[in-house]
Amino acid sequence: MRAVVLVGGEGTRLRPLTETIPKPLIPLVDRPFLHHVLDHLARHGVHEVLLSSSYLESAFGAFLSDRRGDPAITWITEASPLGTGGAIANAAQHLEETFLVLNGDILTDLDLSGLVAQHRRNAAVATITLTPVADARPYGLVTVDEAGRVGEFREKPPEPVPGEINAGTYVLEPEAIRDVPSNRPVSIEREVFPSLISSGAPVFGVVSAAYWMDLGTPQKYLQATFDALEGRVGGLSYAAPHVDPTARVSVRAHLGRWVVVGPEARIGEGAVVEDSVILRGGQVGPEAKIRQSIVGPAASVGGGASLDGAILAEGAIVLAGVRSLGARVGAGQTLEA
Ligand code: GDD
Ligand code: MG
Repeated sequence: MRAVVLVGGEGTRLRPLTETIPKPLIPLVDRPFLHHVLDHLARHGVHEVLLSSSYLESAFGAFLSDRRGDPAITWITEASPLGTGGAIANAAQHLEETFLVLNGDILTDLDLSGLVAQHRRNAAVATITLTPVADARPYGLVTVDEAGRVGEFREKPPEPVPGEINAGTYVLEPEAIRDVPSNRPVSIEREVFPSLISSGAPVFGVVSAAYWMDLGTPQKYLQATFDALEGRVGGLSYAAPHVDPTARVSVRAHLGRWVVVGPEARIGEGAVVEDSVILRGGQVGPEAKIRQSIVGPAASVGGGASLDGAILAEGAIVLAGVRSLGARVGAGQTLEA
């Protein structure tokens, strides 16, 4: 079976980290997030994955050359952003049989094989995985009848309603995208699904109770990291905190349980790090305090600085002694007191 993984978004809600790293390539605990998605697909027998992104396309090159094992990856050129539907249509020549589509920013242990089996039992043209949430506003709200047939798909409803939302994992038949153009941006959520539904095509929803998290915001990225460290995600098992063997952490630093210290990162004497991720080569100076923050690759926090809810992009610098709540420091930029 083949799968399209949608990796071409700009990751705006994770800026400035995503100025230099595409969202799917931000590490989750020990490796770029996309590795976790591809490994999950491999466990369910997917043999080939189609990827495309016009955003930071070159950043995917290193990932593709590092990647080993199944599934095979076919990179498709997407010269300008085609949207979620357009990107799938752009891969249509490779999609002659039933295929999977995954949003590239979802951490889940969903049973993909079971999903495909359910799609076949329903003789569906499209099957949308659903997950319950308390507030559907950031998502696509989906209603189904008793038989599981989708009645309505409403992307980003304005009112804060609870309900079952699109979990960003679909099984599609080639005919579901047959009429979708690939020469302009098309949203599968706003255009393709609503038009399939109104044409009377068999579009089904399958409610899942699997672990599920969209990593699109700093809070959710951190929560997904903590959940992985706590063993709440099937297939993932880590010690908490997770410290890469090449990192150097002072014996007089304090690391909380929900902490990731990436390769070649350094944590100085007397530093306190809690509920945070320090990416490759990140540096936390002596006596600095870091909470609920993401320290980007090769970013550095000066001695005695105190950060809560910060996102430091690649190579960002926080000067010694700075105290800040919710700082956003761009790639190579400096935060002064
Ligand atoms: N190739 C390509 N081209 N991929 C794209 C493009 C594009 O132009 N635009 C977005 N993507 C990818 C993103 O990288 C992401 O993996 C996925 O499509 C979904 O885009 P997001 O920007 O993350 O959408 P969202 O989180 O606001 O909403 C989507 O996901 C929700 C579940 O998390 C929708 O599918 C909602 O209906 C859904 O509930
Ligand atoms: Mg998303």
